Amino acid sequence: MKAVRLLEYGGQLVFNDVPAPTNARDEILVKIKSTAVNHLDLVKASGTARQILPIDLPWIPGHEFSGVVEQVGSDVAGYAPGDAVFGANGIGGTYAEYLAVKTAVIARKPSNLSFEEAASVPVAAETAWEGIFTHGHLGKGQTILIHGGAGAVGAYAVQLASHAGATVIATASREDEAYLKSIGASQVIDYRKAHFEQVLREKVDVVFDLIGGDTQKRSFLVLKEGGHLVSATQPVSQEEAAKYRVSGAMMRLAPSADVLGKIARLLEEGTIRPDVATVYALQDAAQAWKDIAENLPGVHGISPSGPGAARRRSHGKIVLRVA
Ligand SMILES: NC(=O)c1ccc[n+]([C@@H]2O[C@H](COP(=O)([O-])OP(=O)(O)OC[C@H]3O[C@@H](n4cnc5c(N)ncnc54)[C@H](OP(=O)(O)O)[C@@H]3O)[C@@H](O)[C@H]2O)c1
Repeated sequence: MKAVRLLEYGGQLVFNDVPAPTNARDEILVKIKSTAVNHLDLVKASGTARQILPIDLPWIPGHEFSGVVEQVGSDVAGYAPGDAVFGANGIGGTYAEYLAVKTAVIARKPSNLSFEEAASVPVAAETAWEGIFTHGHLGKGQTILIHGGAGAVGAYAVQLASHAGATVIATASREDEAYLKSIGASQVIDYRKAHFEQVLREKVDVVFDLIGGDTQKRSFLVLKEGGHLVSATQPVSQEEAAKYRVSGAMMRLAPSADVLGKIARLLEEGTIRPDVATVYALQDAAQAWKDIAENLPGVHGISPSGPGAARRRSHGKIVLRVA
């Protein structure tokens, strides 16, 4: 099969033929139609976090996909060849024509979504779901502050929190204010112009931090006692959490068929919607990585200001079309 591979940490992506995987008895073999690019792909490839995010080289990047079931293992129930599915895994391997995967991390593709749209959903939407509900315990009538609300994860967090009956405040660039209000934010704070802790009138129940650093440190100031600070980017200081009498946790996505199935239903109803910024062919994955490197200066040795670097991408995911 054709696949994109990384041969060494920090190396170039190589597009060529590799043996197709075979599925174990408890797995299905998916013919991948589309996959999507995540920061995680670049961070793992750079080797900077190899102690906590190791990969086996050569490595096929990619953690999410949409496609069609090709073969079903003898222990698998509920799926048949020809079914359209989507999903995420924690290992990688989706920048390829085939993937062997357990059904514990897949769901049926929403029928109203294209394969490209469906591939853009799992990592961002499941991270948002688990961040705000599983770890943030967000409920109806509460208020949540989402840092990085216009990003891939943030946009699902805004939509899911708003649908759950919470008041949603997001930090983002000014250019994204109208977009964020259109998907459920009631207030948008321009992080380049204002300090959110000086703008907020009342404290919030949950902060979902997709930025980290100083943004995370200042978040303690705006949480109600008993509130939850959930970070998807870096560990949360337990000393600070105790001092402010809040809970603080860094989450890591745990791909789940159950969560993805709930997300699929909301997509099918039109309650939430996907956002695809750009579609590249699989063999152009290296260019797609340059586009996303804008938000990750220094990672993988890619200079965001170098030739071919993208203009500021407003919002939405970068998708790779496989077939
Ligand atoms: N823990 C996990 O399991 C997990 C899973 C998925 C993602 N993540 C992490 O979550 C983070 C977000 O991922 P993503 O895919 O949503 O990123 P993304 O699509 O690149 O979005 C980042 C957003 O943050 C905005 N932003 C930048 N600096 C900001 C600031 N100081 N305050 C408020 N907004 C700011 C950017 O806006 P501008 O472009 O206008 O600056 C952009 O809209 C990444 O660090 C990613 O690695 C973690």
